Formats: sequence, C-alpha cells, structure tokens
Amino acid sequence: MKAYKRAITYGTFDLFHIGHLRLLERIASLAEEVVVAISSDEFNLLKNKVCSIPFEDRKDIVAALRVVTKVIKEDNWEQKIIDIQNENCDLFVMGDDWKGKFDFLKAYCEVLYLPRTEGVSTTEIKEWLKA
Ligand code: CTP
Repeated sequence: MKAYKRAITYGTFDLFHIGHLRLLERIASLAEEVVVAISSDEFNLLKNKVCSIPFEDRKDIVAALRVVTKVIKEDNWEQKIIDIQNENCDLFVMGDDWKGKFDFLKAYCEVLYLPRTEGVSTTEIKEWLKA
C-alpha cells in the first residue's frame, strides 16, 4: 500500500532524459497512480521555450512509461487546481527547482518538491548537441 492514491506532476519532458525518468519513478513509488500534465507547444512558446519534440510525441513517450497512469495537456498556468480536482489527486509533485512556488495548492492536496537528478537537463542536452 502506497502513501498516496493519485499523484499529479507537470513538465515539458522535451528530449526525455534520465532526470525525467527518475522523477516519475520516485512519484510512482509514493502513489498508486501517476498523472502527468505535459505542456503544449503553444504554452511553451508563451514561456519562451521552444521544444525540439512536438507535444504529441512528448505525450506518447511519457504515456508509454510503466510508471505513468495517464497524460493530460497543460495549456496555461491556472489549470492546476481544476486538474487536481478533476483527476482526484491527493498529491502534487514537482522537482525542487520549483520549491515553494506551488504551496498555494496545499489547500487542495499534499504538495511535495523532490530533489532533481544532478547533472542532466534538457537545456544542457541542447547545449551539448550545439557544441
Ligand atoms: N527534473 C528532475 N531532474 C532533472 C531534470 C528535470 O527531477 N535533472 C524534473 C523537473 O524538476 C520537473 C520535471 O522533471 O519536475 C520536468 O522537467 P522539465 O522542465 O521538462 O525538464 P528539464 O530537463 O528541467 O528542462 P529545462 O532544462 O528545459 O528546464
């Protein structure tokens, strides 16, 4: 029996890497089910982020993981409360690069920030590929 029933997490998951996998595995060790909200290409542009991999492909890659129950789309900053309620989540998780930023969600479910895997990020991979 795991501590939580259904967790939700948000991210871009561009150029899927080991840091993404470790985060999702750790969430799955805490919750029976894991919902992943993946940011749309349009939402990323709004954040000045250009994805190498289109949304549909990023979604299919994450959805194929054994540790992931369901993938939904993230379109805007405001949808988190509604997602938590619609998906019946009792846990919200982000990497600790977001520490404190989503504490307002504690009114709706448990909020956890997990340590990032060191030494890897999509931004770094893009830099390596350019070099
Ligand atoms: N993450 C992690 N460890 C890493 C990289 C990411 O735990 N080394 C987590 C983030 O904290 C986030 C989730 O994975 O909760 C999705 O991260 P995302 O922003 O898509 O990946 P990054 O590699 O951080 O991308 P970028 O460099 O563009 O910020």
